[in-house]
Amino acid sequence: MKIGITYDLKDDYLKEGFTYDEVAEFDSLETIDGIDNSLKELGYETDRIGNSKALLKRLVNGDKWDMVFNITEGSYGIAREALVPALLESFKIKTTFASAATLALCLDKGMTKRVLSTYGFKTAPFYEVKCEADIDKVNLKYPLFAKPIAEGTSKGINGLSKISNKQELETICKDLLKKYNQPVLVEGYLSGREFTVGIVGSGDKAKVVGNIEIKYKNTSEMGIYSFDNKANYESRLEYVYAEDLKAKEVEKMALEIYKSLELKDAGRVDIRLDDEDVPNFIEVNPLAGLNYKHSDLPIICYKQGLKYNDLINEIVMSARER
Ligand SMILES: Nc1ncnc2c1ncn2[C@@H]1O[C@H](COP(=O)(O)OP(=O)(O)OP(=O)(O)O)[C@@H](O)[C@H]1O
Ligand SMILES: [Mg+2]
Repeated sequence: MKIGITYDLKDDYLKEGFTYDEVAEFDSLETIDGIDNSLKELGYETDRIGNSKALLKRLVNGDKWDMVFNITEGSYGIAREALVPALLESFKIKTTFASAATLALCLDKGMTKRVLSTYGFKTAPFYEVKCEADIDKVNLKYPLFAKPIAEGTSKGINGLSKISNKQELETICKDLLKKYNQPVLVEGYLSGREFTVGIVGSGDKAKVVGNIEIKYKNTSEMGIYSFDNKANYESRLEYVYAEDLKAKEVEKMALEIYKSLELKDAGRVDIRLDDEDVPNFIEVNPLAGLNYKHSDLPIICYKQGLKYNDLINEIVMSARER
């Protein structure tokens, strides 16, 4: 069985003149090597296709694969994560992870909050600041939290993302609007314990692998799983597998969210408790990072005694069943 691999390699884009911030969500060669080696060890023939442009050329050329293992993040626009899956879907080529429709929805954290609220899942109250004039319209109780509405890897999130007053709100919103050229999601600050839950499988077969609770060391930007904290997690954070009743409640909620949005094969759901200890979802990750050393989902698997190959095997077997 021949599996193509689609990805956005950081180095390719840096060579084209993209900035480090612009490529922050893209993958390193180490990640691609990890996936490729794992697929080979599982007995598959692999073909490194590359990014959407490379895929387009190959598709027009008539090339085919039995399946494509896709981790492309895309470069521009709110549907950027959906581009490669949409292309593959239209060429009737099987691809790993969620459909193009789910990927486009989940990249927009505001839309995702609206959709999941209709299912009854709790999330922090929010307002979308689309331009500077919107800042005056924010009518939420401080402390607040501000972040770009459609980024990952905690891009644009740092020690200043928690906001205590109007002045801070103005400064951070203006800064984020300018830097990321997209709406700023302003929401109630969730002050409680924070978890990311790892899930594998699809539909009725989806199951929780485990969770990590993010614990902050004194060296960290306290209480925020920020870009710098993630990049320096070994010195700043502690990842703990939480097994208490509250953590089980969080895992159950994550699985229900995963199924409601039709995430497939594997993913992560981020949940944080509010000041009354009620779990609120923050966001969902249908394309969770897969670096075998540093990404949350593989780390969640290792804590449960699973190996990287077990995770990749779960993903491919789940996709093959479609
Ligand atoms: N409303 C909030 N209240 C408190 N903290 C928040 C809130 N929203 C986000 N955070 C903090 O910021 C972190 C990153 O936010 P979020 O998960 O939305 O970003 P991301 O870039 O999509 O992350 P990922 O790397 O998982 O893709 C969260 O893990 C959490 O620590
Ligand atoms: Mg997150």
